[in-house]
Formats: sequence, structure tokens, C-alpha cells
Amino acid sequence: MSLNAVELMGDVSPAPRKNILDVQGLKTYYKTRLKENVYAVDGVSFALEEGKTLGIAGESGCGKSTLALSLMGFYFPPLNFGSGSININGIDIMKLNKEQLRKQILGKEIAYIPQAAMNALNPTLKIIRFIEDMMKEHRPDLTKKQVWDIAAERFKTLNLSPDVLQSYPNELSGGMKQRTVIAISTILNPKILVADEPTSALDVTSQKTVIKLLKELLDKKFIKSLVFITHELPLLYHVTDDIMVMYAGEIVERGSAHQMIFDSLHPYTKKLMGSIIVPEEGMKENRLTAIPGTPPNLKNVPSGCRFADRCSYAQEECKQGDIPNRYVGDRVYRCIFDPDTLKEWYKNEER
Ligand SMILES: Nc1ncnc2c1ncn2[C@@H]1O[C@H](COP(=O)(O)OP(=O)(O)OP(=O)(O)O)[C@@H](O)[C@H]1O
Ligand SMILES: [Mg+2]
Repeated sequence: MSLNAVELMGDVSPAPRKNILDVQGLKTYYKTRLKENVYAVDGVSFALEEGKTLGIAGESGCGKSTLALSLMGFYFPPLNFGSGSININGIDIMKLNKEQLRKQILGKEIAYIPQAAMNALNPTLKIIRFIEDMMKEHRPDLTKKQVWDIAAERFKTLNLSPDVLQSYPNELSGGMKQRTVIAISTILNPKILVADEPTSALDVTSQKTVIKLLKELLDKKFIKSLVFITHELPLLYHVTDDIMVMYAGEIVERGSAHQMIFDSLHPYTKKLMGSIIVPEEGMKENRLTAIPGTPPNLKNVPSGCRFADRCSYAQEECKQGDIPNRYVGDRVYRCIFDPDTLKEWYKNEER
């Protein structure tokens, strides 16, 4: 691709098609005890088409979970909304009050499985109680028997034993607990499921059953779109259409899973993906290896490119001013260098 073919734009994404989720210029921050504002999501724009799955990757502390919380409108201290817009199935959720959000959006339009959700289940309640509580909010017309029948039917369809409904969380294995959390969270057929590290802390076999369940939910159209946050990049390749990489509160690159893993443009993506690719063998089934250095402290982010300090290609000009988003076909990355220059560097490095 020649430099001329690269469209240089500001922070505005191309016109959306049928987007089930559309986020523009989102900034959200934590207010610390010292009254500092820490922008963990700092000018994030992206869209997700109905029927698509999007993976979010990036090192620890880059803002992935904060983005997930922000999408759900979970602005509770110390997290605050700064600016931007979040449209879910055409509804600007920032225009809704807390009750409208809870009744109209959460669980129905978008459902969220927080990081480590399976360990946060109240151990004194049987699984069916979590479903009854959800239904009380959204389907108060149903009797307990009807709720049980709906839950049992859904569990059976997802190859989970309805006996689980009578169990206490601590009676279930890690993998089963996670699958149960997913089944509960999607019982109202939300259009979007946001799953934050649903496979972390699980053994490989349990990871596979969780992935299988997510795919089943999509195949059976119980959910339409999936946002999947994980450190396990090979999993993203197998599960998601697109991957988006975050660094220090910003999106640094987004493209198809294949492009992102095998043909990354941004030096940070390249480094992340480099840790899972062996040239002769393809993808290694392991987790990220460390990239030298650490992401910047979000209390005091450097000007220019936030990755510049750790980037072996960085030049003086990377450390000043705004870094533009570059659109190349369907993909976008944030770097001052054009694709030809970057690819040439990467090729030389492999030699
Ligand atoms: N309650 C909080 N108060 C202040 N700052 C916070 C709080 N929670 C998170 N942060 C800051 O926000 C940044 C982003 O955190 P976040 O949990 O969103 O990252 P993450 O990408 O999900 O990381 P991980 O991969 O470890 O889950 C971190 O750098 C952290 O310092
Ligand atoms: Mg997280």
C-alpha cells in the first residue's frame, strides 16, 4: 500500500453501517483520593456491527476493564464519565437516567460479565436465585415455576445440567461456575455480551468449554455480538472477527483478527503479537510474554505517542503533538509512520 492510499484522518471513525454499538470520543476517569483525574479511557472511538465479535487486548492496566464498565454506564465512584457518546442499538445511554438504564438496557440490550465474576457470586444463594432476581426486574409477570422452567430449558439447550440451578456457587468447579455465570447473564438474550477475561484463571480444558459456550450463544442467536477481553491472544484469534488493542487508555490499532496477529502495523501490536508467533510454527498456545518496560502512569501520560518510550522505531517527532489515526481499508492504527515504512522495518528486523 502506497503512502497516497493511506487516508489520514483525525479522531473520527468512518460512517457507521448497522452498528449495534457505537462509541465516539469516549473519555472516562477515576477520581483519586488526592483529587487527581486518571483518564483510563482517553478518547476511545469504535463501532461494532451486529453479528460481529470484537476482541480487546493490551497489557494490564491499559484500560480494558474500565472501557467495559464505561460502556455499561457503570459510573460509580471513583469512576466518572468525562465526555463522548455511547450508542447501544441506537440508544444514547448517557441520555438515560439510572433507572432507565437498568430497566431498558442492562441485561437486555447489553450484558456484562465482569472480570473474576465467578468468584463474586454470593456463596449463600443457590444459582436459581440469581436468575429469579434478574427476572423480578425484567419479567415481574412470571411465577417462580415459570422462571425455573425458562432457566432449566436454557441450561439444557446450552448443555448445562439443570441440577446446577439448585447448587450453591461453591459446589461448582471453576469452569462450571464460569459457564453458569455466562448462562445467567445471557438469559434475557442481550444483543451484546461484554465478557471481561472470562477464561482467566481457568485450566485449558475449562477455557475450551467456556469458548464453546460463547460460540453456542452466538450460533443459537441468544446473543448477537460479543466483546471479548482477554490476555490470551490465541483465543482472540479463534473467537473474534476483529481485535482492538488498547495502550494507556487509547486504542492503538484495530483490524481483523488475522491482520492483527499476522500483519500488525502498530509497533505495540507487533510486539504483543510477536510474543505469540513463532515464524516457522505459527501461533504458540501460550500467554503474553513481557514487553520490556512498563506502560506510562496514567496520572501523567507523555505527550505524543504514549508507546514512544518503549518503541524501538520511535523518533523525536513521535514524542510531540497529537498522533493521528491512520485508516487503511477497514483497519485503523495510531502512529505517525505509514504502513510501507513500518513493514519495511519489520522485514529488516526479521532478517
Ligand atoms: N478504582 C480505581 N481508582 C483509581 N484508578 C484506577 C481504579 N481502577 C483502575 N484504575 C486505573 O485505571 C487503569 C486501567 O485499569 P483497568 O482495570 O481498566 O485495566 P485493564 O486493562 O483491565 O487491566 P487488567 O488486564 O489487569 O485487567 C489502571 O492503570 C489503574 O491504575
Ligand atoms: Mg481488566
